[in-house]
Amino acid sequence: MRLQDFALERFFARWEFEAELLLCASDIEGWPMSDLLELAGEDDRRRWGDLRLGYTESHGDPELRAAIAGLYEHVSPDDVLVFAGAEEAIFALHSVLLGPGDHAVVVRPAYQSLAEVARASGAEVARVDLHEADDWRLDPDEVRVALRPNTRLILINEPHNPTGALIDRPTFDRLVELAAESGARLIVDEVYRFLEFDTADRLPAGADALATGVSIGVMSKSFGLAGLRIGWVATRDRELIERLAAFKDYTTICASAPAEVLALIALRAGDRVLARNRAIVEANLPLLDTFFSRWAGTFEWVRPRGGTVGFPRLLAEVPIDRFAEDLVRETGVLLLPGSVFSDTGNHFRVGFGRTNMPLALERLEAYAERTLR
Ligand SMILES: Cc1ncc(COP(=O)(O)O)c(C=O)c1O
Repeated sequence: MRLQDFALERFFARWEFEAELLLCASDIEGWPMSDLLELAGEDDRRRWGDLRLGYTESHGDPELRAAIAGLYEHVSPDDVLVFAGAEEAIFALHSVLLGPGDHAVVVRPAYQSLAEVARASGAEVARVDLHEADDWRLDPDEVRVALRPNTRLILINEPHNPTGALIDRPTFDRLVELAAESGARLIVDEVYRFLEFDTADRLPAGADALATGVSIGVMSKSFGLAGLRIGWVATRDRELIERLAAFKDYTTICASAPAEVLALIALRAGDRVLARNRAIVEANLPLLDTFFSRWAGTFEWVRPRGGTVGFPRLLAEVPIDRFAEDLVRETGVLLLPGSVFSDTGNHFRVGFGRTNMPLALERLEAYAERTLR
């Protein structure tokens, strides 16, 4: 398998720990360890104190899998396989489900691995575009047209990175129908689930919607615990769980023991963890609204409906890659140029999950005053 460079991750490898303020991160402000441990109940504290640092169960700790299953309606602990982040889950899914002669339908833009690992598996990948003019909506008819007899999977990401878009319920139901009719498996990357700005917009999980449906989840985004590197696949298709588990024997084998306990603590206190994280997003998003309305002729802003990121467009003549490079060098504020998503429309990703976002935005505004007025 020959993978192309992951443009976004290469960009972050260059800048993430050098730039002073990340105005483009997709995770939520990482929890301090001490705050997380304060949420631990008696059983969790005992687990943490008595923890032995040996290998762990390759499917994931049973209590952790039970806590993950609790996030779904029809999923049981045996329908969950723990991975080292969502990234490993994506790698395993594509590796197990796709090969030469297969076909996959993947939304565009998308987190690169969602399409790239599929392509590198030897499968043909059809991209279905989200439309900015239509608030980055996905048209299920375009998915229908892309389907072929050998389409093995339809992959969507809801809420979506980088646009913050979220399809509506009828669109989701139509995709479920298309998957059921065609025999293609519906895979939903749900790493930003639980961060819908209107909770009424929350979609059913992929694993709940269809017996063969797949949900990809992670502790990194909505739960603000990226450093744990705990992700998962949930699906009621036990045969797929077994195939994925057999694949994982060649990657990480099992999860980190401390990370599993910390993830369990967070999930058992899930309401409090999510409330703290949602509050950060809810405080930041109106500041972006105000900024973009003040700069309406300079930036185009489609307000996200969920998640931690949006995908505005710089309308000025200056190419976004140059703007972002000059911005970070002069002010320490990092934006993510759309080119890392192969976007050619002068878009960039903003992230609003960090508590220092107001300061980053102030600096962006001062820089824009100097260079774009
Ligand atoms: C849509 C999407 N899926 C998967 C991932 C991978 O998550 P993790 O890095 O926690 O494995 C990301 C990370 O940005 C993402 O945005």
